[in-house]
Amino acid sequence: MKKKKATSSSEKNPANPPKLLVLHGPNLNLLGTREPDYYGLATLAEINLALARSAASAGVELESFQSNHEGALIERVHAAREQGVSYIIINPAAFTHTSIALYDAMAATGIPFIEVHLSNVHARESFRHHSYFSRLAIGVITGLGSKGYLLALEYLLSQISSD
Ligand code: DQA
Repeated sequence: MKKKKATSSSEKNPANPPKLLVLHGPNLNLLGTREPDYYGLATLAEINLALARSAASAGVELESFQSNHEGALIERVHAAREQGVSYIIINPAAFTHTSIALYDAMAATGIPFIEVHLSNVHARESFRHHSYFSRLAIGVITGLGSKGYLLALEYLLSQISSD
């Protein structure tokens, strides 16, 4: 039997597009000038714009949020559940290695997520080798610079179109 073509997300219900959230942890507001050998030259605004454009062309709503405060990130995760966010892309930055509280928020809401790091955390100091988040993540992208966010988005868009 001929396989039916999957409907794209925007065809599914244009009035209620799937929602994605991108979360950036502490110090990522400094991208562009912060240790470019590790983090590259793209600014956070440039990364967010590229993500927003790519999501919009697939008919998916995408919001980005950065905070230097653990509580603000936790509250944004709680709000994501109320908003019906389907997937999260998160770079918890230093909270990757320290924050059981943010990990608990991700676990509590149960929203599937991809963990992204610009630098290759495994090629750096040993305190960066452990992530509280990886065991819960769909997948982890580390060391591919700002392209890592776009690759995570590409994966999630393909998931959404087959959901
Ligand atoms: C980071 C890696 C973390 O170890 C660091 O604390 C960051 C950024 C990355 O994107 O490579 O702030 O998450």
